[in-house]
Amino acid sequence: MKYKNTNIFYTSRRTGNPVVLLHGFLESGNIWEDLLNDYSGNRQMITIDLPGHGKSGVIGKNHTMEEMEEAVHHVLQELKLEKVDFIGHSMGGYVSLAFLEKYPEMVGKIVLLNSTPAADSEERKENRERAIDLVQRNKEGFVNMAISNLLTPESHQMFQSELKAIKTEALQFPTEGITAALEGMKIRKDRISVLARFKGEKFILAGEQDPILNHNDIKTLAEKTGCKFYSFPGGHLTSMENKEEFLRIMYFIE
Ligand code: MLT
Repeated sequence: MKYKNTNIFYTSRRTGNPVVLLHGFLESGNIWEDLLNDYSGNRQMITIDLPGHGKSGVIGKNHTMEEMEEAVHHVLQELKLEKVDFIGHSMGGYVSLAFLEKYPEMVGKIVLLNSTPAADSEERKENRERAIDLVQRNKEGFVNMAISNLLTPESHQMFQSELKAIKTEALQFPTEGITAALEGMKIRKDRISVLARFKGEKFILAGEQDPILNHNDIKTLAEKTGCKFYSFPGGHLTSMENKEEFLRIMYFIE
């Protein structure tokens, strides 16, 4: 489907109360494939490749969370869906929260997976600047490093082939798309109060040793926003590192 003359790729399978799965930075809807192949519940499952990722095109120089959320909204309009649950991984969680702020009546439940409602700290903003510079000079080096950094050394060993597949795919993403996502994440709004105000069921799932997000900070934010909090062993890719437990959560939120 087209959004602003750009192709936005999505998949929809099964029927029932719809769930939208949003991937993180340098990923695509493929990150959910393995889980969805094993899932046998009664819900419609929609995956969307966010702009500049997977098979979706680049819209502009800065893919703000609001821009990405509008692309998601267009897909939901095409599918004629009025209310959905979200499972948002990391950047996908930031996009889910931007969607929640704009279209609160369309959100049933929200699951933030290895994600946060907080904005970037000043230090993280500086890191984004360095990353933007590096992607432009050496995309391959940046992609390899960024994806290797998602996991602990133990998980890294265990999921070598999966990480390789993520890297291989991410290397195909255009430099402009990677940069636009970094720019968008850097300037994203703090949405702690948006999440706190939300009356639907809300969950935060965190990796105990997530190298990207501090586990204790996320736990505090979950308490502050009234989210149910679950922690899992491992790093930033909880749904892959703890697939069986994650599948149980997917059934549990039905
Ligand atoms: C992601 O996995 O989407 C990113 O690591 C999120 C971020 O850099 O804030």
